[in-house]
Amino acid sequence: MLILAIETSCDESCAAIVEDGWKVHANVIASQIPVHQLTGGVVPEVASREHMKVIMPVVQKAFEESGMSWDDIDVIAVTKEPGLIGSLIVGRTTAAALAFAKDKPLIEVNHIQGHLYSNWLGREENPQFPVLSLTVSGGHNELVLMRGHGDFELLGQTLDDAAGEAFDKVARLLGLGYPGGPAIERAALEGNADAVNFPNSRTEGYAFSFSGLKTAVLYYLQKNEDRLEDPQFVKDVAASFQKAAVAHLTDRLMRAAETHNVKEIHLAGGVSANKALRAVVQKLCPDRLLRHPEKIRYCTDNAAMIGAAGYFQTTAQD
Ligand code: KG4
Ligand code: ZN
Repeated sequence: MLILAIETSCDESCAAIVEDGWKVHANVIASQIPVHQLTGGVVPEVASREHMKVIMPVVQKAFEESGMSWDDIDVIAVTKEPGLIGSLIVGRTTAAALAFAKDKPLIEVNHIQGHLYSNWLGREENPQFPVLSLTVSGGHNELVLMRGHGDFELLGQTLDDAAGEAFDKVARLLGLGYPGGPAIERAALEGNADAVNFPNSRTEGYAFSFSGLKTAVLYYLQKNEDRLEDPQFVKDVAASFQKAAVAHLTDRLMRAAETHNVKEIHLAGGVSANKALRAVVQKLCPDRLLRHPEKIRYCTDNAAMIGAAGYFQTTAQD
């Protein structure tokens, strides 16, 4: 089954053509990062307007890259929620109009379920359930137990900020720019992660919380304002923050992996691109299969993952 998928939930305009939930024939992403760098974050109204400008050329490019035509497409899949409402509307109206004009069925896919399925992309052999998936991005921070297709249990989510949001805010405090995750990771490579002992917030069960850590960094920087000009100081704080954030995520992940005796652990979402996070999970969990999306372009928002989730959504009951 060939699915044309469209994703516009935040600040990337994406279209992909995916076969049978895993084979990616095209995965086009028009990033708005340069536009949002001007404001240091996403302005929803600006994001919607950017989607309006580029979504049809992005769909066109997916056809060109894949060499497919409309006759090849069986289904159109589009992100339903969650996301910025103006951005979502652009994708959904585009998909609905195309489905009507080309007489194709339209299916709506949850964005987080899309991230869960990013680990199916590019892999002919399906992952083995039960899977424990940690989706960590700018807007979401979910620990999900996947027992089978469509059989998902949300074990924990954040009480305040998502991990990516914390990376973005701390990067801003350190003057490292937007998006913050990759900037912190780069700076941390040359920093001492033991320079500052930031706290690992306590929460009940598998809940996450990043506001305490964020505030701790803020207070530390206010106390050491005169040192912000020193590049080594910035790198040390970045590395120490990253270590604390990773410890907070992996502590809950490992507990849940043991309790539910899962076969595989999956990392997904923008923050799963972080190599320090991947390395810690691998070290703590040598006996379970660890997967992260095959390509960085499958970690951050993309339409291929929506095509994969849409495929299993429509075929799982068959
Ligand atoms: O999945 P995504 O593209 O969008 C959302 O659905 O939010 O995730 C973007 C988030 C941003 O907060 C960004 O700073 C973070 O993922 N991110 C990273 C890295 N690359 C992207 N965080 C930590 N380390 C990275 N290498
Ligand atoms: Zn996302």
